[in-house]
Amino acid sequence: MKELKHLNKYFKKYWLKLLIGIVITIFARLFQLILPSYVNKTITVVESYINADIVKETAREQLTLFILIIVGAALLSGFFTFLMRQTVINISRYIEYDLKNEIFEHYQILSLNFYKKNRTGDLMNRISEDVNQVRLYAGPAIMYGIQTLTLFACLIPLMFIKAPTLAAYTLLPLPILSVLIYNISKIIHKRSTVVQEYLSTLSTFTQEIFSGVSVIKAYALESQTNRELTQLAIEGKDKSMSLAKVNAWFFPLMVLLIGISNILVIYIGGMQYINGEIGIGLIAEFILYVNMLTWPVAIVGWLTSIVQRAEASQKRINEFLNEKPELENSVSQSHKIQGKIEFKNVNFTYEDTEIDALKNLSFTINRGETVAILGKTGSGKSTILDLVTRLYDVTSGEIFIDDEPIKNINLNDLRKSIGAVPQDAFLFSDTIKNNIKFGKYDASDEEIISIAKEAVVHDNIIGFSKQYETVLGERGITLSGGQKQRVSIARALMKNPDIYLFDDCLSAVDTETEEEILSNLKKASNNKTTLIVSHRVSSAKNADKILILENGKLVQQGTHEELNTTEGYYKSLYQNQLSEKEN
Ligand SMILES: Nc1ncnc2c1ncn2[C@@H]1O[C@H](COP(=O)(O)OP(=O)(O)OP(=O)(O)O)[C@@H](O)[C@H]1O
Ligand SMILES: [Mg+2]
Repeated sequence: MKELKHLNKYFKKYWLKLLIGIVITIFARLFQLILPSYVNKTITVVESYINADIVKETAREQLTLFILIIVGAALLSGFFTFLMRQTVINISRYIEYDLKNEIFEHYQILSLNFYKKNRTGDLMNRISEDVNQVRLYAGPAIMYGIQTLTLFACLIPLMFIKAPTLAAYTLLPLPILSVLIYNISKIIHKRSTVVQEYLSTLSTFTQEIFSGVSVIKAYALESQTNRELTQLAIEGKDKSMSLAKVNAWFFPLMVLLIGISNILVIYIGGMQYINGEIGIGLIAEFILYVNMLTWPVAIVGWLTSIVQRAEASQKRINEFLNEKPELENSVSQSHKIQGKIEFKNVNFTYEDTEIDALKNLSFTINRGETVAILGKTGSGKSTILDLVTRLYDVTSGEIFIDDEPIKNINLNDLRKSIGAVPQDAFLFSDTIKNNIKFGKYDASDEEIISIAKEAVVHDNIIGFSKQYETVLGERGITLSGGQKQRVSIARALMKNPDIYLFDDCLSAVDTETEEEILSNLKKASNNKTTLIVSHRVSSAKNADKILILENGKLVQQGTHEELNTTEGYYKSLYQNQLSEKEN
């Protein structure tokens, strides 16, 4: 139960509701316990009348009274059972809500590396499936647990007081039932875990197929994926069948054992009645007791497996909750970012691939400067931008923002003052308007339109029938590559940040549009530090400074004019792209 201790803080939070729930649960049980003894009395009255011990009038009066008490107690017990579910199950829903929020909040502060190590399906599973298992413990398990305890505590002594021998025989099969149910539950648990895991595999498989449907169609892989799915489905069927087989044992076994208990009551009770040791009504009373006991006894087995499952799920949840973010915001003081960026002997190695992406890199970008970064693919350009946003920390060396080490700057303020357009821009499946508004939630429609014009995407958007209200597909798949890039540029412009980071975000637009956007950007980003990563000289030539990277090293830096007069990557790139244009 070590892992489930995590929930104690929530039980403390809802202690009053929980206490009320417990009291109500006990009441619901107590009213139920009244019933059998009145059934006993009713039968005894009938027996006395038949034996002519009492007159018709008295019998009728007593019967009416007993029946009213039975109906009343049943109604009250029902009412309290309703209240019990209302309180205890509600508590479990509150705890579920709190726990999901806690997990989600924690997910959000974890660094990128965490997301690289764990699969989306797993993250989703822990916040939905596992929380659900824990909820079963926090609600139903507690409710049935209290119910069962109250029942055992009251009923078993009561039975022994009323008829010790009969009680002993009646209770005999119940521990066997409990052990059996426990064992079956364990097998059910094992097999349902297998089925759960299978479902997770299946959903990962189908999710991938749906996401990559255009590749599957283009390569005509439909029948192959069909075959793979069929194979998976057959496995799934076998697993579900093996679960169904044990499940099938559950109820018959219960019915068998209740039957045995009932027969014992009737046989032993009958013998005792014949010997004149007990009244006939007591047999009826005990049969009712047996039936009242059976379900709770079965529940003991079921509860054990629920608690085990909740423990396992909470363990998985705790694993993520205990994960510390690699990058912590240790500064509470707020910062107004000016925009000077300096790299000093920066080395950076990606942990997972052990690739040295940046090697002894030093450069300075003054506030308001526009700097272009060029270099072959894989030379480390995007890595530089990620380090400026502090998605990762440097392996060695140091980065300064406004002459202050980046680690001494409030992380939230830093990221708030950066407008980044990543290389593969991500758009949410929401309206275009909301995607642009992502940079500034309270933006007016006019602002959005004027920003979209700056990003030269307005004309495209009004071409859609729903214009700015067009809902994008997952990851923005309904837009062309160039449109997607420009919507994400608009999103960054909307933010009006102090530092712009554009990662190859004009690669999918034609050169004319590129020039228009660049000149708009120049106006918008006036006095703002701007880093443009590109493969095209046209994006870079007007920059204040151009950095050329090769294999993570800075090999050249200077203005367009300077670089164009020295032999090197930049000059040959320029010559190539110039001649391409002329052709
Ligand atoms: N998330 C990552 N995890 C591990 N290695 C990475 C990661 N991102 C990049 N790398 C590696 O780091 C090196 C530099 O990558 P980077 O993305 O910075 O290159 P780039 O200059 O932006 O290239 P491109 O022009 O193709 O976008 C590459 O060798 C790449 O394989
Ligand atoms: Mg890149």
